[in-house]
Amino acid sequence: MNYYEVKGTDLKVSVLGYGCMNLGQRWDQSVLEDKDIERTKESVMTAFEQGINFFDHADIYTYGKSEVAFGELLGEEPSLRQQMIIQTKCGIRFQDDPKPGSPHRYDFSAQHIVRSVNESLDRLQTDYLDVLLLHRPDPLCEPEEIALAFAELHSAGKVRYFGVSNHTAMQIELLKKSIDYPIIFNQVELNLVHNQLIYEGIHFNQNVSIPSLTHGTLDYCRLNDITVQAWSPLAKGLLTSDGMSKSEIEIETSELLEDMAVSKHSTPEAIMLSWLLRHPAGIQPIIGTTKARRILDACKAVKVQLTREEWYHLLNTVIGKNLP
Ligand SMILES: NC(=O)c1ccc[n+]([C@@H]2O[C@H](COP(=O)([O-])OP(=O)(O)OC[C@H]3O[C@@H](n4cnc5c(N)ncnc54)[C@H](OP(=O)(O)O)[C@@H]3O)[C@@H](O)[C@H]2O)c1
Repeated sequence: MNYYEVKGTDLKVSVLGYGCMNLGQRWDQSVLEDKDIERTKESVMTAFEQGINFFDHADIYTYGKSEVAFGELLGEEPSLRQQMIIQTKCGIRFQDDPKPGSPHRYDFSAQHIVRSVNESLDRLQTDYLDVLLLHRPDPLCEPEEIALAFAELHSAGKVRYFGVSNHTAMQIELLKKSIDYPIIFNQVELNLVHNQLIYEGIHFNQNVSIPSLTHGTLDYCRLNDITVQAWSPLAKGLLTSDGMSKSEIEIETSELLEDMAVSKHSTPEAIMLSWLLRHPAGIQPIIGTTKARRILDACKAVKVQLTREEWYHLLNTVIGKNLP
């Protein structure tokens, strides 16, 4: 495994993080079963034994079951805690929370942030989080109020560092006006297929339509020492699994990944992740498979170094034409 030193912190994180979203298996209010906890231990320990020391959670993942399952592991093996960097997120509230009829929404109120962290700490069986992220931008957020919540959590020793997820450059600027702590991460969807953060920079001022503008967020993060974490870095297996319905371009890209994997004695998953790792921003892909075999296939990415030519070959192929 390779590691990044996260700027402005004492954190040394594995270049691949492990996403714990699906550890709890079912997105409903059902309770955890013993077999879910056993599977969690296998997935997490496989990642850990590959050198992954960074684990990404959110309060809502499988309605809290993913944090509970992870917490069971920490409860059984307390010595793991010091060797792991644990991040969770808050701010999304499901429909019917806290009472029937409450709408699905975002909530960056101080009261919700503090309560959410306290509940995550209980579920994870730990007394501190290394990192807390705001999950999705809340249009009703009051940065001054978030600042109060962060100060309370930090001074109580409950959260060491703060970051955001799915935020634009300007939204981060707005938060920074009031928050006294550095924003160290921005976790965003980013992979070879969902490549807007990179693609928009290339297509600036061209006569093409870009489905979603990120307003220079990748460059902004580089300029401001904010490490970009890539969620769904394997596009949920779209290019690397059989049985997924694919467009012509996706089939071609998938075949290119396969060919590169053969020539580099690696795996298509590793090639796809190495496309992110090759970017000089120092992107941290957060892989989410629960299968041990797939975790091992993904971790081979740290042994792959794509050339400039290979990186652009993949980009041209997934876009379906040569760059301008
Ligand atoms: N901040 C946000 O808004 C946000 C949103 C979504 C996710 N996340 C974070 O990002 C992490 C990763 O997201 P993700 O799970 O979508 O990432 P991913 O690594 O792109 O995809 C993993 C998912 O794809 C499936 N899959 C199918 N074929 C696969 C293959 N060949 N290799 C690997 N996986 C394959 C996996 O199922 P199996 O388990 O059966 O292998 C799993 O459900 C999450 O765990 C979470 O921590 C954050």
